[in-house]
Amino acid sequence: MKNFNINKIIRPHLLSLKTYDAVNPPDLLSKKSGIPENELIKLNGNENPYGASPKAIAALKNLPMHLYPDPDQIKIRNAISKYTGLPIDNIVAGAGADEIIDLIFRIFISPGDSILDCSPTFGMYSFCAKIAGANVKFAERDSKYDLDINEIEKNINENTKLIFITSPNNPTGNLVSYEHIKYLLKKEILVVVDEAYFEFSKSSVQNLVLDHPNLIVLRTMSKWAGLAGLRIGYGLMHSSATKYLMEIKPPYNINVAAEAALLASFEDVDLLQKNVDMIIENRDWMNIELNKINNLTAYPSFGNYILCEFTKNYSKTVYGELEENGIFVRKFNTERLKNSFRISIGTEVQNKKVLQIIQKAMKYE
Ligand SMILES: Cc1ncc(COP(=O)(O)O)c(C=O)c1O
Repeated sequence: MKNFNINKIIRPHLLSLKTYDAVNPPDLLSKKSGIPENELIKLNGNENPYGASPKAIAALKNLPMHLYPDPDQIKIRNAISKYTGLPIDNIVAGAGADEIIDLIFRIFISPGDSILDCSPTFGMYSFCAKIAGANVKFAERDSKYDLDINEIEKNINENTKLIFITSPNNPTGNLVSYEHIKYLLKKEILVVVDEAYFEFSKSSVQNLVLDHPNLIVLRTMSKWAGLAGLRIGYGLMHSSATKYLMEIKPPYNINVAAEAALLASFEDVDLLQKNVDMIIENRDWMNIELNKINNLTAYPSFGNYILCEFTKNYSKTVYGELEENGIFVRKFNTERLKNSFRISIGTEVQNKKVLQIIQKAMKYE
């Protein structure tokens, strides 16, 4: 059938879906900027500037690539169990935390259901919701980017199935209070607490998982363990939810390389934690230095990134200067964040260069 029109069979609401605004890979950034790949400073994806653990890198040799991986993820879930202290019945691994988010939609959300997104926040929730045909209600955060419980209450109705709470929030860096999460858990909705940056914040609600069947906590190996390219994350949840996620996930969702790297990373936690500590130290130093600059507010952060908000049109100028120097940070196209960008924390040398360029562009002496 040569004249087959694919647009006629696509689910109609997907025809107008806007692609997720993902970060470009280094080769594309290099092409765009004319700066060689090895000179780029990529601070737009909250990746780990120190890379993966040497043990994880070594573990990628001699993998049984010709065999399917374990659909029950037994070794992986045992290692996560040892790390988190939760039983394996409360753990499911995904190809990144992103896959767990996608699974949550596939399992719990029907077209017409509502979900709550506490914007500004990580874009995957609303993106996946739109694919699922769900209504996204935006409970805008307050002026300090904290959760606004009144806004949340206003947007909850009988169609609301789930709320995403990101702590620390991406891109604003702030934590959500334990009390707010406990308050939301009393409602008859699923509460997904995204702790992708847990190792940088050391703050978690994982201890609530066993007693709250409506709580799912998300984690990832992308940030603290430097495994973003291998795609592995996990969810911590009540065993009644684990059952469905394990049954409905693609059977071989964690490939053998990701499995080997995760297992080796958990054998190298001390080294990875030292890298995390360096990132935290650099982040706090950057925050102080950035806040010395007029017309710039650097928000306090519990993640591996800082949200910088500029007055007037300065963000465009500074972004342009950074780009010209081969430095890529994350900008946003929403009204609220149009004068802001997020800088991931790099190595000390990278951070100093970023700071120098921002200081120069902002005429800071
Ligand atoms: C808040 C948040 N959740 C989830 C993810 C996705 O993590 P993963 O790489 O494990 O899919 C990210 C990635 O940036 C994130 O910022």
